[in-house]
Amino acid sequence: MARQNFVNELFDEAASDYDWVSGMMSLGSDQFYRRDALRRAGLQRGMQLLDVASGTGLMIKAAIELGVEPAQVTGVDPSRGMLAQNRERNPVKLLEGRGEALPCADSTFDFVCMGYALRHVEDLRKLFGEFHRVLRPGGRVLILEITRPTSPVALHMMRFYMKKLLPGISWWRRRNRSTAKLMQYYWATIAECVPPSVIISALEASGFKNVQRTTTGAVLSEYVAQR
Ligand SMILES: C[S@@+](CC[C@H](N)C(=O)[O-])C[C@H]1O[C@@H](n2cnc3c(N)ncnc32)[C@H](O)[C@@H]1O
Repeated sequence: MARQNFVNELFDEAASDYDWVSGMMSLGSDQFYRRDALRRAGLQRGMQLLDVASGTGLMIKAAIELGVEPAQVTGVDPSRGMLAQNRERNPVKLLEGRGEALPCADSTFDFVCMGYALRHVEDLRKLFGEFHRVLRPGGRVLILEITRPTSPVALHMMRFYMKKLLPGISWWRRRNRSTAKLMQYYWATIAECVPPSVIISALEASGFKNVQRTTTGAVLSEYVAQR
């Protein structure tokens, strides 16, 4: 809980800058990628969608752009600051909560997504057990995550960009100490992130079928699975 409180405080304080950070980290490609990943994972109009770690609502925005009805979307996040930004953007049901203890009924959703938040969760089995519980039989899960690059050159470049350059630019542009702190924490969580094989095994052990990982560039991983 101490770690969770620390993470909540970080996101509460940096919430108003989060969309800017997301754009800077992806060199402006983040919304196209979210939309494309949701579409490729099979999200369709008419589905009941749960967005876990919903943050400022960028995954939900992408889902609505794909034709999903706002009335069929629920978002969950533990940071009140992030949820406040989300509420301004998306006319959907938003709940305060953690992925490891979802405030949702069993077998409610056709699709569960989680963008860039796996590294904030301590217990993957608990998290994936919750995804399994709230999904209907046949329902799908999509997890987007940044993976530590395997090439030493790519790792070095990413470390420089995220640990030195971006916090510097963000301080110069935004003058928000919390945003610079959030970026440094980002780097720490990426550098020490759980390896893809552990994520795949935890999904399978939680009862998911057809678990697949695809990668884009050296650092973006998508995990798709079916209940
Ligand atoms: C990097 S942001 C991602 C937001 C959004 N999914 C996106 O694609 O932009 C990470 C989010 O995870 C949330 N978070 C942190 N710990 C969490 C947990 N245990 N369960 C669910 N969400 C959590 C944070 O509050 C934050 O909003």
